[in-house]
Amino acid sequence: PFPGVVIPVYWHVINAGPDVSDGNIRDCEIVANINVMNNDYAGSGIQFSIKNITRTTNAKWFHSVDQGTTYETAMKRTLRVGGADTLNIYTVAFDEIENPGLLGYATFPMYYEDAPQDDGVVISHLTLPGGALPRYNGGRTLTHETGHWLGLYHTFQGGCDGPGDFVDDTPAEASAFSGCMKGRDSCPQDPGLDPISNYMDYSDDACMNQFTPGQWDRIAAAMSLFRGAGAT
Ligand code: ARG
Ligand code: ZN
Ligand code: CA
Repeated sequence: PFPGVVIPVYWHVINAGPDVSDGNIRDCEIVANINVMNNDYAGSGIQFSIKNITRTTNAKWFHSVDQGTTYETAMKRTLRVGGADTLNIYTVAFDEIENPGLLGYATFPMYYEDAPQDDGVVISHLTLPGGALPRYNGGRTLTHETGHWLGLYHTFQGGCDGPGDFVDDTPAEASAFSGCMKGRDSCPQDPGLDPISNYMDYSDDACMNQFTPGQWDRIAAAMSLFRGAGAT
């Protein structure tokens, strides 16, 4: 649906020290996660290409860079590169006391103009393929957050009524799904079972395996409107 777009990626490894357990993940883990994402986006024609990896030791940023904090602002002001078409990814650990279970967050393309310096995706280093988080260590957190970065909402956005996620071919869903079990029908009055295999739900990494054609269309529109691609 949107062939030939290659998104440049700048990956910023925030760590609390030199070891992998300090968040200083290896290049091979980064490449593995980009490969997962490229497979997940293959049907869209969009691919991601690593341009550079930076490494920053800063224990405050590593542990406390939750969304809306001054740490977020400081980290991104220091490290972010490129324009609206450039994906900046930061791996951190988050504040597990303030936000237990937080896996990542992202900025949406339609708000790029409001705060270009904040644009990007922040994920826990534990979510990379082979990372320490059971159920969420398949690299799909990057696929999911980049979905937001490309303009997608959660499949359960808006619940059963109204426009939901603004995508017609994702069945309505009342709330976030957790786990793997197929068959939930949280909006029985609407067509279709819950889209628990969709990358934009909250299912386990191993159970996510699809974006829909309607999501590709929304991504293509967001890319050309806000991220300067495909407008020819
Ligand atoms: N909860 C996070 C968010 O809303 C990410 C969820 C990712 N899910 C996963 N299976 N990796 O952006
Ligand atoms: Zn999300
Ligand atoms: Ca929908």
